[in-house]
Amino acid sequence: MRVEGPRYTERFGAVRINEVQKVLELDSGRARELTPYENVAVQKIEEGAIKDFEEKMVIVIPTKDEKLKLLEGVISGIPHECLILVVSNSQRKRIDRFKMEQDTLRQYCHFTRRQAYLVHQKDPVLAKALAGAGYNHIIDQDGLVRDGKAEGMIAAIFIAMMMKKDYIGFIDADNFSPGAVWEYVKCYAAGFYMSRSPYAMIRIIWRYKPKFGEGVYFRKWGRVSEVTNRCMNSLISIRTGFETDIVKTSNAGEHAMSLKLAGLLSYASRFAVEPQELISIFEDFGGVMPMACKTAAKHGIEIFQIETRNPHLHEDRGTEHLKDMLLPGLATIYHSRLCEKETKEKVLAELLQQNAINPGEEPPMPQISPPPKNIDIQKFTKVMGRHMESCSALEGK
Ligand code: GDP
Ligand code: CO
Repeated sequence: MRVEGPRYTERFGAVRINEVQKVLELDSGRARELTPYENVAVQKIEEGAIKDFEEKMVIVIPTKDEKLKLLEGVISGIPHECLILVVSNSQRKRIDRFKMEQDTLRQYCHFTRRQAYLVHQKDPVLAKALAGAGYNHIIDQDGLVRDGKAEGMIAAIFIAMMMKKDYIGFIDADNFSPGAVWEYVKCYAAGFYMSRSPYAMIRIIWRYKPKFGEGVYFRKWGRVSEVTNRCMNSLISIRTGFETDIVKTSNAGEHAMSLKLAGLLSYASRFAVEPQELISIFEDFGGVMPMACKTAAKHGIEIFQIETRNPHLHEDRGTEHLKDMLLPGLATIYHSRLCEKETKEKVLAELLQQNAINPGEEPPMPQISPPPKNIDIQKFTKVMGRHMESCSALEGK
């Protein structure tokens, strides 16, 4: 594929945030010698190079009671070399939707001869493995992993570590377009290819997120993203002293990280997880507070924002849901150790305007789980390793 090279990079301590890079060509043809200046402004990334990264990548699909056709469509878009890990929190009572997901996945893997794992978030073995390894932070009073997409993602990070993968990418299950899913993974691989640091994060930005009403309207920005980005950029601008609008992907659900980086970050519950990842990077490596990890600081943390060609077609949950997303995201910014008076005021003004808080109120403190890096992965594997066989969707493997 061909992607714009990183033309502008904003530096914040040890963090390098690259300006949005557009996909120019989904397929750039056969591998061949490049002409002298071909790879200056534009990166041609050969199929083989992309596959090398896909092989080391696990793609995590968090799902909760999504339509099976959607889930299957998403799976079908994931390049063959990636390992698929579906983390499901679908209901098992009344109608056993998890069982239906299992059947769908088994059939799919049987005919495509590929490996996929399906783990239920409320699987008691998973909770036991986490607790045994010393990570109780996402476990509820009932002894099982808490509800929430973020909690599923954290569990997936541990499983990916156990499977000795190098990269982890997330793709929501409520995506109508397998072609877009395919492109996300290509962008993840392209980002890791371009990164000069083993501590890398790739965030997807959609060119269009169409709305279906009368006809289709190809809207460029979501309202929530716009507001969250503005506040996130304010936080960086005031700390560096230079105004910037570099961050355009505060809410990117579609994103990937090297596991090295994933192990260092702290994760917020529910819809705050994506902005919190950035906050965590800025707090730990922005240079305002002491560096959280010397090795990572030496390499630098590299963030890519890649704009896809495919529009993002996904379940529309209405405007009430938008408010649900805005508040927790802005709360992570508001309660960050980096957030000063001016940005706090900006956050409050936005929340008031959207009726997400009342005058005089503050956004609630986000619930944050600490970095996974300190977990004893051997202990986790001891409990979860054997169990994964029963989560495999490909029989005889
Ligand atoms: P949005 O796309 O950010 O508006 O949020 P969604 O409600 O669509 O959720 C994003 C993805 O996470 C979807 O694929 C959901 O099915 C999935 N999801 C939602 N809640 C949970 C949960 O508790 N556990 C897991 N594993 N996935 C969830
Ligand atoms: Co969604």
